[in-house]
Amino acid sequence: MRIERINTWLTCGDPHELEGLFAHADTLRHEHVGDEVFLRGLIEIGNYCRRECAYCGLHAGNRRIARYRLSADEIMEAARKAVACGFGTVVLQGGEDAAFSKGFVADIVQRIKGELGIAVTLSLGERTAEELAAWKRAGADRYLLRFETSDNVLMEAVHPPHPEAPGRFETLQALRDLDYEVGSGIMVGLPGQTFATLSRDIALFDELELDMIGIGPYLPHPDTPLGQTQAISALDCGSHDTEAAAPALSDQVPATPDMVYRAVALARILRPDANIPATTALGVADEGHGRLRALAAGANVVMPNCTPVRYRSLYEIYPGKDSTSEAEETLAVLCDQIHALGRTVGVGAGKSPSFLKRADRNRV
Ligand code: 5AD
Repeated sequence: MRIERINTWLTCGDPHELEGLFAHADTLRHEHVGDEVFLRGLIEIGNYCRRECAYCGLHAGNRRIARYRLSADEIMEAARKAVACGFGTVVLQGGEDAAFSKGFVADIVQRIKGELGIAVTLSLGERTAEELAAWKRAGADRYLLRFETSDNVLMEAVHPPHPEAPGRFETLQALRDLDYEVGSGIMVGLPGQTFATLSRDIALFDELELDMIGIGPYLPHPDTPLGQTQAISALDCGSHDTEAAAPALSDQVPATPDMVYRAVALARILRPDANIPATTALGVADEGHGRLRALAAGANVVMPNCTPVRYRSLYEIYPGKDSTSEAEETLAVLCDQIHALGRTVGVGAGKSPSFLKRADRNRV
């Protein structure tokens, strides 16, 4: 799909046409990745971070949160719980923290693979090719690293470079070279993100040949530089002189659930073989509907939180995350919702066809 077409969908004001977009994405989802919804157990292994991302509650300068790291035993305990819930994958996510060293992460990946045999996804920020290679050798299967926005100027402003961090696109390339199943994605409605930018972001999902695509709304956090900036409130954006006028390419994208559903549907159309989660942030922004509506607009994965409840409230990337429900409770609700959609809960690792096809091509 050409960028102009993506932009037309993002700015479309006709609800009937949009229903057609969501239905088309849902059909492609059914044809390419089936009716199973795969659940990934998310373990937030620590909230220390060296970065100063202006949007993220875990940014290094935030003195208002208590910092924590899970021990290897605590990570194992959470992973066992994920398996007890029937999840075929755990996602170990944390800030860019030197304590999650090459050796520490390799050991924990090896323990999980050896004892539990499930798929392991890492989401630990921009890391060197050497670290990524060691973790792959230890058995890691997948890696998630959102590029957040394709606008380099905006990215530098909200995600200042760090002298020891390789950079997002460099890390994504290294992951690809190392044969990881590679996930990336964006926030929708980041202040400064225009419709032209968002159209390019979505086109990039295909250019990067992503296996997994995570899309969530930007949610302002009061203890962040961006959250404190009143001038560019995401809610003020997208207002127009005349109500009927469609947004222009240069307009700010609103951080609305509707805009995220459009991006999810377009991601499915561009990358029909990818795994696409109904993200937690979307669940927060569109309480009670977010995950369901995303699942009906192209998504096929959900990532229930398996972090020990005592640490949950400290992993506050954005406000409003559920920090009290045990994984088992979330699972019960999710299963009902998935069945109500006429879908089933996925069994096994749930690799993306996108990755499996690439692996096949590389074999011949
Ligand atoms: N609102 C929404 N999503 C956020 N993330 C970080 N901060 C916020 C925020 N304020 C997302 C980023 C990051 C992922 C782990 O969380 O996209 O890659």
